[in-house]
Amino acid sequence: MSMIAAFYGGKSILITGATGFLGKVLMEKLFRTSPDLKVIYILVRPKAGQTLQQRVFQILNSKLFEKVKEVCPNVHEKIRAISADLNQSDFAISKEDMQELLSYTNIIFHCAATVRFDDHLRWLDDAIIDEITPKLIGDRPNTYTYTKALGEMVVQQESGNINIAIIRPSIVGATWQEPFPGWVDNLNGPSGLIIAAGKGFLRCVRATPMAVADLIPADTVVNLTLAVGWYTAVHRPKSVLIYHCTSGNFNPCNWGKMALQVLAAFEKIPFERAFRRPNADFTTNSITIQYWNAVSHRAPAIIYDFYLRLTGRKPRMTKLMNRLLRTVSMLEYFINRSWEWSTDNTEMLMSELSPEDQRVFNFDVRQLNWLEYIENYVLGVKKYLLKEDMAGIPKAKQHLKRLRNIHYLFNTALFLIAWRLLIARSQVARNVWFFIVSFCYKLLSYFRASSTLKV
Ligand SMILES: NC(=O)c1ccc[n+]([C@@H]2O[C@H](COP(=O)([O-])OP(=O)(O)OC[C@H]3O[C@@H](n4cnc5c(N)ncnc54)[C@H](OP(=O)(O)O)[C@@H]3O)[C@@H](O)[C@H]2O)c1
Repeated sequence: MSMIAAFYGGKSILITGATGFLGKVLMEKLFRTSPDLKVIYILVRPKAGQTLQQRVFQILNSKLFEKVKEVCPNVHEKIRAISADLNQSDFAISKEDMQELLSYTNIIFHCAATVRFDDHLRWLDDAIIDEITPKLIGDRPNTYTYTKALGEMVVQQESGNINIAIIRPSIVGATWQEPFPGWVDNLNGPSGLIIAAGKGFLRCVRATPMAVADLIPADTVVNLTLAVGWYTAVHRPKSVLIYHCTSGNFNPCNWGKMALQVLAAFEKIPFERAFRRPNADFTTNSITIQYWNAVSHRAPAIIYDFYLRLTGRKPRMTKLMNRLLRTVSMLEYFINRSWEWSTDNTEMLMSELSPEDQRVFNFDVRQLNWLEYIENYVLGVKKYLLKEDMAGIPKAKQHLKRLRNIHYLFNTALFLIAWRLLIARSQVARNVWFFIVSFCYKLLSYFRASSTLKV
């Protein structure tokens, strides 16, 4: 029997950010492993014209929750959605709901956050904030890391006699094993990059190929989170422990190797209607990246927009490309460095788990096979994010072949035009050209003569 699963049984649990990527995986695992839990309260804001109930309905009816419905058929009765907006005072929670939460909640998982790296700080008037933001964030690369640090500080200061732990995941990717491999449902971080590369939009990035790509699967983060919840409540550590949930220390894979694995996966599982053939080059040189951005990213976008205009359609590729390059540039700070994290607390926790819990709540990434994980990730992106049909793979492969032929034709034509212009303008180029032509002619004559002699 899993001690962790038993611990969550009968409990009332509050989750913030339950409509997000990690929040959904967390909720799914809780219901699947502790179907006898009492209730999960989730703080939800109405969004995109959807009511709270519609948002919950959509989550419960997604592919992610298929297994849950088998083990916990009354799952919809165990979710209680509470209208809230964490940006408002008292989170805009009604008095009755607040009273219920305060009376019954046993455990809180706080997963809500804005994960945009450059979001505006929201304490004061926009103009003032814009002016003081650089001074506030100091050496930090963006407002995201700054507010994360502030949040942790507040939590530590205000924890009082509540048992608290902090979990710091690195770059969270698709699920590794549970509820099935490769599940992902948002474009943040690596998933967006995989789409951009697979569709042929993004072909070169400023990154150090030898730097560790500290990717961590979403289910690993969730397993560690649930184990931390159990350990913190049962063992009550004296101080607030911080758990780094990373792969770099245990099972490092660098960006260069990961890019090769992603490209290999695209060969097997290509995306439909790619703009160009997938490619993934890394450079740390500013001039080289500017050159590649101009030649490999912006120029094809401009040409494509010109084609759209000619065919009476609205140009959109340049705008899309600029947005993509801006997003990628925000990641550069993280992908140009190898990061070292202390994993003492994570390893301590691993040793505290029973063999059954180590199996059910596995967060040991030493067992992760990167090649297999990346292939499942690409498959997951194709299925769950792009919603592409697997039956379309042969057609997608043919499309990539066509793009390759166009690429060769284009390069050959470009070379011939450049060469023609050069020999029209330079005597040296003309001499080289005559030398090559006469050499080829002599070679041909020699082979002809030798074949005539043999006859
Ligand atoms: N994903 C990563 O690579 C990564 C890496 C390290 C740490 N983390 C941390 O892990 C946590 C979860 O990340 P995630 O990837 O699951 O993010 P996510 O998919 O963007 O989900 C964010 C969640 O927070 C909710 N939220 C944001 N602002 C809110 C507000 N004002 N009121 C109520 N709810 C609000 C969102 O609700 P809506 O659905 O209404 O927008 C959503 O449920 C975050 O703390 C993040 O910083 C993530």
